[in-house]
Amino acid sequence: MTVHFIGAGPGAADLITLRGRNLIAACPVCLYAGSLVPPALLQHCPPGARIVNTAPLSLDQIVEEMAQANAKGHDVARLHSGDLSVWSALGEQLRRLRQLGIPFQVTPGVPSFAAAAAALETELTLPGISQSVVLTRTPGRASTMPERETLTAFAATGATLAIHLSIHALDRVVADLMPDYGPDCPVAVVWRASWPDQRIIRSTLSRVQDDAQGIDRTALILVGPALAAEGFDDSRLYAADYDRRYRPVGPDPRFPE
Ligand SMILES: C[S@@+](CC[C@H](N)C(=O)[O-])C[C@H]1O[C@@H](n2cnc3c(N)ncnc32)[C@H](O)[C@@H]1O
Repeated sequence: MTVHFIGAGPGAADLITLRGRNLIAACPVCLYAGSLVPPALLQHCPPGARIVNTAPLSLDQIVEEMAQANAKGHDVARLHSGDLSVWSALGEQLRRLRQLGIPFQVTPGVPSFAAAAAALETELTLPGISQSVVLTRTPGRASTMPERETLTAFAATGATLAIHLSIHALDRVVADLMPDYGPDCPVAVVWRASWPDQRIIRSTLSRVQDDAQGIDRTALILVGPALAAEGFDDSRLYAADYDRRYRPVGPDPRFPE
């Protein structure tokens, strides 16, 4: 028996890995985080599967579901939105399962920041503009932030920021970023990236509060000069004169064949 934690992707039902889909189809129990996991994924569950929306359950109740499945020898598909490596409550569930000796495996999924970047048809790391992406959030009712992880600290780097769980605090995001990024810095808000009703708002720090009025809940705020950059250098990777292992160049290549 195994509890399979599966990244269910950002919303589109076909943005799940083949492995994830096959595991859902093979597990007689499916526990899914109902607030964001697309309902269409549940169609992959086998006939007669026990399917439980964990949105109204406590951690104890969720672990109890897993323990009951373990007692019956039933594999569990545990679905969380996007990828499991960020804001999925994976850590606390794995800790409980380790304590109980219940086996588990983790299967990654497409994170929402990647789906948002795809929707924007943009690369978040452009040569000479930004080479880092910061996945972050602002404090919430249930989550404080570690003292040093402030938006102002991240803003000082000039990196591309992918700010989650924060559309309700857009005024504060703008105030914190304005000193370092300036009023004309590009901002994109992507609401429900990859869902059929996806919305994209392209704006700037000074305008975004007006432009994104009425957007709430499942939205990402992307900020940084890479979002609208045109005048960046080509990467060296494909430069004709760049001598590298897979494409030796010149009479004395660094990696001779
Ligand atoms: C609890 S976190 C889950 C993050 C998820 N584990 C991931 O990999 O993206 C929920 C937040 O992620 C962002 N999010 C999740 N799905 C999204 C989507 N399809 N479009 C835009 N933002 C999304 C929003 O900021 C939302 O408030």
